[in-house]
Amino acid sequence: MTGISLSTCSIEELDSKPHSDEYRQRIITAKKQLGEKVMILGHHYQRDSIIEHADETGDSFLLARKAADSDAEIIIFCGVHFMAESADILTNDNQIVLMPNIRAGCSMADMADLPDVEACWNELLANSNLLDPATREDAELPAESGSSYLVPVTYMNSSADLKAFVGHHGGIVCTSSNAAGVLEWALERAGENGKVLFFPDQHLGRNTALAMGYNNDDLAVWNPMMEPDWQSLNAAKFVLWHGYCSVHQRFTVDQINDLRDAHPGALIIAHPECDRTVVDAADASGSTEMIRRYVEEAPSGSVIGVGTEIHLVKRLDAQYSDKEVICLDPGVCPCSTMYMIHPAFLAELLENLIEGKIVNQIVVPPQIADDAILALNRMLSIIA
Ligand code: 13P
Ligand code: SF4
Repeated sequence: MTGISLSTCSIEELDSKPHSDEYRQRIITAKKQLGEKVMILGHHYQRDSIIEHADETGDSFLLARKAADSDAEIIIFCGVHFMAESADILTNDNQIVLMPNIRAGCSMADMADLPDVEACWNELLANSNLLDPATREDAELPAESGSSYLVPVTYMNSSADLKAFVGHHGGIVCTSSNAAGVLEWALERAGENGKVLFFPDQHLGRNTALAMGYNNDDLAVWNPMMEPDWQSLNAAKFVLWHGYCSVHQRFTVDQINDLRDAHPGALIIAHPECDRTVVDAADASGSTEMIRRYVEEAPSGSVIGVGTEIHLVKRLDAQYSDKEVICLDPGVCPCSTMYMIHPAFLAELLENLIEGKIVNQIVVPPQIADDAILALNRMLSIIA
């Protein structure tokens, strides 16, 4: 195999070495040799030197659907760990899912773990008259009249064992592109006086519930590090986990105002992981795929301010040269974990496959996958 040895290299070291053409050529050659048995999926936040090799690009919903529909023997997921886990759950036993760098996680997903969510779940049930949907004969059906349930909803950005918890307890996974439909589904199964427990991203939960017509009194936050505020928890329709994305929480209303001052008439779109004030001040909000479409459909000559990860914003600006696409935060950092997928790792992974070596496989144990797939299939049934 050609190229530098990766075992001792950091991403910074890899980026500082002038090997980009070499990686590119190695990826193209290896991919050609492997042919249709390999499919590369690339999330919108990936760097351009990965995206150019992707067979499909998209947001987390679209990529989950592509994985579920694919016949490829080997799926290489260029994104973060929870996305690859979901692809493994949604593909069949004859397909395998690999990641170029297995260390690419998501700091928001890490903000909720199974023991903490189980503790919250047990306390909410013990302090209310709500029932666990796992006690129902058919959790797919709307709640029987007069019954009230606590329905768990997890954002796609969560580990497989949390998706399994949700599947087991009659709940559902959501993504930023179908969150409103998912919350409607959950509320129907919660019943008139039921509740939804939403984790880990408080912002997506809050932005979606408020856009559906609920108000702040209908929302309470569960922080596992703090004493529960039972007055607001008991009154709430939605209990939101205290999670957030460190990239999206950097966007502010002042940045939107500054951009509008500098470019009167500018359009603004923000990802729903941003704070409520930012989503309120924006003209639109949506998943990474919705942001891509918003830019595509904006009239020629538009200036569009975007509140999301910088790789996607820069790519849209380059792709639509008749429009100016600007990141709301001029100093924003990339998502550091998405950035861990370096072309050097992709080249090495593909060359290993040619040599018959499978590395960095994502394997979700069957006892977790069996429950998680219930929640993922419910998610896929809600149109984005
Ligand atoms: P999308 O589902 O919009 O692609 O979002 C995933 C994500 O991690 C955003 O930070
Ligand atoms: Fe996770 Fe935020 Fe990165 Fe999305 S942008 S993968 S939520 S850390």
